[in-house]
Amino acid sequence: GSYEHIVVSKPATGVRLVTLNRPKALNALFSPLIAELNHALFDADKDPEIGAIVITGSEKAFAAGADIKEMKDKTVAEVYGKDFIENWNDQTRVKKPIIAAVNGYALGGGCELALMADIIYAGEKAVFGQPEIKLGVIPGAGGTQRLARYIGKARASELILTGRNFSAQEALEWGMVAKVFKPEELVDQAVKTAAEIAQFSPLAVKAAKEAINEGYNLSLEQGLKYERRVFHTLFGTEDQKEGMAAFAEKRKASFTGK
Ligand code: HXC
Repeated sequence: GSYEHIVVSKPATGVRLVTLNRPKALNALFSPLIAELNHALFDADKDPEIGAIVITGSEKAFAAGADIKEMKDKTVAEVYGKDFIENWNDQTRVKKPIIAAVNGYALGGGCELALMADIIYAGEKAVFGQPEIKLGVIPGAGGTQRLARYIGKARASELILTGRNFSAQEALEWGMVAKVFKPEELVDQAVKTAAEIAQFSPLAVKAAKEAINEGYNLSLEQGLKYERRVFHTLFGTEDQKEGMAAFAEKRKASFTGK
């Protein structure tokens, strides 16, 4: 489709790259941009040619948060009545893996958008933060929930209560970010990883993502049982037969998604 606030491309076999593109506002998030992002993500999710998705912004900003100028005059009747930002986490319903490649500012809703991805890669100069407290509000798209689960309650509380920013290096040490790269190499590296994922059985990839995410809502015992059942189910696929036959025959597997 043709979009106004994002750019969509196919930088490698099996990979869809979605670039947030509202440079004048440092990719501040507003409803039209989120609608386009969601459209592009679900489009990629449906496309059998695509195995993994990368979301990025610019070198200056992944996204500097929700659009404060758009929000500032909203009333509680509007935000509660229309369930403002209700569709901002639609990304979490996408079944294919999403890598957030974060350069520059990822603040407020921008940080939360990255936290919804399966993997975060960051550029060395990335700046993360949940500064909502400074605006008289709190994070509204997962900051108080995902950040606390991913980096721990004490760190998340300190960051959310002070509104302080944190660096790519800190995010890496805390396990929120998987890898840090030079800013100019970041997107290529994310695309490379996405392409690597895209060559595997889409059924196994989908199952792996599902099992990891399901576990966040379950006890360890329930999660392990869920994992085992999904593991069993994959023995019904041609891709399991192909993957294991290829190993035994010392050749590269060729997966079909059947
Ligand atoms: C609207 C924004 C914006 C934002 C930047 N801009 N962030 N507009 N909403 N969140 C605009 C600026 O107003 C400015 O427009 C232009 O982008 C460039 O920004 P500058 O501030 O001039 O750039 P710089 O001096 O480099 O500072 C960068 C910055 C700063 C540190 C990122 O822009 C900043 O603090 N932004 C706000 C960050 C923030 O508080 N985010 C959380 C939002 S609340 P003009 O027209 O002046 O050129 C939130 C709630 C989430 O996200 C809850 C649900 C999702």
